[in-house]
Amino acid sequence: MHGSATAHPNVALVKYWGKRRSRGNLPAMGSLSLTLGFFATRTTVRFDEAGGQDQLTLNGRANSRDLKRVQDCLAPLRSRSAATGAAAVDSRNDFPTGAGLASSASGMAALALAGATALGLAEDPDLVGRAAMAGSGSAPRSLHGGFVLLSIDSQGRWSCRSLLSPDEWPLKVAVAITQAGLKQTDSRSGMELTRRTSPFYKAWLASQKSDLADARAAVAQRDFGRLAELSEGNCLRMHAAAMGASPPLVYFNGATVECINRVRALARDGLPVFFTIDAGPQVKAVCLPDALDDVSDALGRVPGVRRVLSGDLGGAARPGTP
Ligand code: DP6
Repeated sequence: MHGSATAHPNVALVKYWGKRRSRGNLPAMGSLSLTLGFFATRTTVRFDEAGGQDQLTLNGRANSRDLKRVQDCLAPLRSRSAATGAAAVDSRNDFPTGAGLASSASGMAALALAGATALGLAEDPDLVGRAAMAGSGSAPRSLHGGFVLLSIDSQGRWSCRSLLSPDEWPLKVAVAITQAGLKQTDSRSGMELTRRTSPFYKAWLASQKSDLADARAAVAQRDFGRLAELSEGNCLRMHAAAMGASPPLVYFNGATVECINRVRALARDGLPVFFTIDAGPQVKAVCLPDALDDVSDALGRVPGVRRVLSGDLGGAARPGTP
């Protein structure tokens, strides 16, 4: 039994940073993201009924570090299927892994869909969503395309859906790579440290609800200026909460800060662009289509930027690995 799937990473404009206490992997807040069509994870899962051990190969190398996360993701599928045996998972990213580019989101979304396809369960989107969520709190968003909302109510019931397709508002994204290699503190440990130790965590959590509602309205109205203001504010508040942790978490390097300054200077000059940064030093600049060349050019000239990758928003995760 085998199945394969392709999923794109996503970048959150209203971010998830903190889990609900004693609720497994469930985020403590909703989030809103853009699916990035120019990066992809391709994953194949084989279930061997003869047994043996689960195995993960990531980018061509055996990987035991992330095997637990893979098993967490497959667990909801396994509980719905008769003997599945051992899983052999082969996953490849065509972009830097573990560097703040949401590889866990696209990885767990592709795995959930590939596993469900292998077991004949892909027609049940709720189950695929639950599997993705069990792997990573940002992964359900990567099952959908364009502008994606993950909402959670006070009881912890959640749902995830696309608000607009890429065609309905074709924004562009440029990613400035300021550092290669693995980030220092992964999102999971970073957000838990922030929740436990940062005096700013409560304020961060309290501001999420209105940010999410306002960002939804800005997306519905295609109001770029409003979305820019909300996204930059939400991003810097998440990082402020993380910097308040003990020990402090600083995901920025010098070039990250210079990219922020450059994007703000471009926006002051009238270019429709804003920045956002996840748990790593790379900077994502979101812009209207006509601004992409100028934005990519300007970021490429910031000292410390190694390269700029850019492109369109992407669609939903899909079976197969083209
Ligand atoms: C800063 O989804 O990677 O990218 O649920 O533990 O896998 P886990 O965390 P993860 O955290 C994402 C953090 C973020 C913001 C976001 O994508 O919403």
